[in-house]
Amino acid sequence: MNLHLGDVEETALIPLAVRANESKRKNARIHDPKAVEIIDALGIDTKNFDKLVTHECVVARTILFDELTKMYIRENPDAVCINLGCGLDDRFSRVDNGRISWYNVDLPDSIEVRKKVYEESGREKMVGCSILDDHWSDGIPKEKPVIVVAEGLFMYFSREQVSAILNSLTTSFSKGVLLAELMRQKMMKEDMHDTVKHTNATFGWGIEKTGKELTLLNERISFVKETTFSEQMKHDGFMSRILGSIIGDMNNRLSVFEWGR
Ligand SMILES: C[S@@+](CC[C@H](N)C(=O)[O-])C[C@H]1O[C@@H](n2cnc3c(N)ncnc32)[C@H](O)[C@@H]1O
Repeated sequence: MNLHLGDVEETALIPLAVRANESKRKNARIHDPKAVEIIDALGIDTKNFDKLVTHECVVARTILFDELTKMYIRENPDAVCINLGCGLDDRFSRVDNGRISWYNVDLPDSIEVRKKVYEESGREKMVGCSILDDHWSDGIPKEKPVIVVAEGLFMYFSREQVSAILNSLTTSFSKGVLLAELMRQKMMKEDMHDTVKHTNATFGWGIEKTGKELTLLNERISFVKETTFSEQMKHDGFMSRILGSIIGDMNNRLSVFEWGR
């Protein structure tokens, strides 16, 4: 099947392939039956999208994002959750408490592909709009606190674009939490990444050392905490532990921010 995905949209196939292949393993560390179904339904060859280092890092980041999303949902059981640059991710199924509302936001052509394999429901919706468009959040309720997930996203934007996205979040929603994956500038060479190098995607802006630097782009957000994927990889088995100890603090991190509290 021709997926008609652009260069940056194609990057969504990397985590999808990892989640599918990991789910099929004996003693799988994450379980994503929808990813398995999508890879099979769309006939995607995962060879270039699932390589060792990426595999272990995506497993770690999936565990980290799932756990933290669930934690913030426990604090706010009626929250509005927004998955920015959702790709073909099925986090809603993994974290749903039966009460949250969930919005999967991505570029129009990504959402067209998503619609081939997902259906909307009463509490899970799709928004096909660039998050650089001033109107992307028009259809999302503004009165409840939001939990925003930005996984595998900000590294593809320039500093100015990340700043514009933060501005749009903090002016559109009075109160929220942002779970953002951030990459260090020194790691922003596509050739260094065993899967991204097989796509035409290019990296944009990254942090020098810590996610705290994101607060320099927006005065309304405050830094809460962060965990590098390497820290999680200590708990994910022998190979993951070895790779995590080699990559160390250079690895991507999940950084948490809040505003309006
Ligand atoms: C690496 S993928 C991550 C997908 C998903 N978060 C995951 O972890 O499986 C990056 C995603 O960001 C989306 N994206 C890139 N630019 C965007 C924009 N301006 N507005 C909305 N989504 C965008 C891409 O289409 C792609 O689905």
